[in-house]
Amino acid sequence: MFKSVVLLALASAVAAKHCRNITVPISISARNGVFNIAPPKTEAQVTDFFLELSKQNSNYTQSITNGYKTIKGDYQLAATYCEPDRGSGDTLQILTHGVGFDRSYWDYPFGNYNYSYVNRAIDQGYSTLSWDRLGVGHSTHGDPVSEIQIFLEIAALKELTQLARDGKIRCVEHRFKKIVHLGHSFGSAMTFALTNMYPAISDAIVLTGFSQVPSFIGLFMLGGNFAPVKEIRTLKDRYVEGYVAPKTSIGVHINFFAPGAFDPKMLQAATATGQPAAVGELLTVGSTGATSEFGGPVLVITGERDVPFCGGDCKNAVIINNSAPNLIEMSRTSFKKASAFNATIVPGAGHSLNFEHTSGATYKAILDFIGRHL
Ligand SMILES: *[C@@H]1O[C@H](CO)[C@@H](O)[C@H](O)[C@H]1NC(C)=O
Ligand SMILES: *[C@@H]1O[C@H](CO)[C@@H](O)[C@H](O)[C@H]1NC(C)=O
Ligand SMILES: *[C@@H]1O[C@H](CO)[C@@H](O)[C@H](O)[C@H]1NC(C)=O
Ligand SMILES: *[C@@H]1O[C@H](CO)[C@@H](O)[C@H](O)[C@H]1NC(C)=O
Ligand SMILES: *[C@@H]1O[C@H](CO)[C@@H](O)[C@H](O)[C@H]1NC(C)=O
Repeated sequence: MFKSVVLLALASAVAAKHCRNITVPISISARNGVFNIAPPKTEAQVTDFFLELSKQNSNYTQSITNGYKTIKGDYQLAATYCEPDRGSGDTLQILTHGVGFDRSYWDYPFGNYNYSYVNRAIDQGYSTLSWDRLGVGHSTHGDPVSEIQIFLEIAALKELTQLARDGKIRCVEHRFKKIVHLGHSFGSAMTFALTNMYPAISDAIVLTGFSQVPSFIGLFMLGGNFAPVKEIRTLKDRYVEGYVAPKTSIGVHINFFAPGAFDPKMLQAATATGQPAAVGELLTVGSTGATSEFGGPVLVITGERDVPFCGGDCKNAVIINNSAPNLIEMSRTSFKKASAFNATIVPGAGHSLNFEHTSGATYKAILDFIGRHL
């Protein structure tokens, strides 16, 4: 009896994925901002940093910028490559996570991988490459003020993409016909900037947990209840001062989860495995241009209740003078050259789409879009 139940469960399971963890050495450079601040160390210094960053009608980044400097270095990126049973397909999806997480955001083990985007993509024949952003997780960390900024992180994504295209990543020596870039939040901002700078680098992009409305980022900065990484048990031995993370699950809840949209145990798991942000990333997230030269298909998909990008309601367009039907549709005008553009709002969802009850619907929308337009 028990045996047949197990067999039934196996039979209905998705096609098995085959994954390997890899380390990708890269040599990159980027023009980073020179900020005349020291890494905030104490709780009070971190709080002051966020009060400056969230002040209305001001640009803290600009006020502490003292020119630009080319940063150059050798780094290691921690990544996971997955492919379906039948081997690497024609298309590779490169997955870039956002602030607060690492690459496990895309293939999260909670609930026996019930929430895994990678499982869904593999099931449809795609291969995936998720990576810890430069400065985060098992990738090389760096100076959290001068080095770990969006500019150098984009250079890392560019190099990773180039190596993948050329079949030069060890253990991924396959020439993919097409490459799709997916991002979440900060990873979406990076994907937006990368494909504007190098439009030919990608065949389609999916920006999740994203909009181009800058009005609400202050809610994220204050709502996160960010504390010095040295005060957080799970992170203090792995990161230097100048990295910050929510002090408890309350900050994680406010910034990433919508009311009633998630399993409370998932919030606890996301808090326990949460990763910090470097202050240099937070200072530069808004510094990468508003329009895109990208000419392929573009999907922007965001939770209705997203806090940082929609102030908790993507459908209320008053803040943009009703210049578009909603805050996500507003991006249509930024992508004048896109071959297709779709703005999708996930009803009831918050910022971390992959961790909520609606994840299945989110994944369907993403994979349908890629399938239709690639
Ligand atoms: C990859 O590394 C992560 C830890 O960073 C681990 O949880 C996971 O099981 C590893 N996956 C494989 C396929 O080795
Ligand atoms: C703030 O200043 C930075 C650095 O000068 C600039 O790149 C960014 O676009 C500014 N942000 C806004 C919202 O004006
Ligand atoms: C909305 O209108 C106000 C006042 O006319 C203007 O200052 C602001 O830039 C507009 N915002 C957008 C997003 O169009
Ligand atoms: C699997 O995840 C969905 C949300 O995507 C949730 O509604 C469902 O309860 C989960 N099932 C299990 C067994 O965790
Ligand atoms: C965008 O995609 C969704 C499905 O994910 C679809 O229902 C909707 O019609 C699309 N919108 C446009 C304008 O193509």
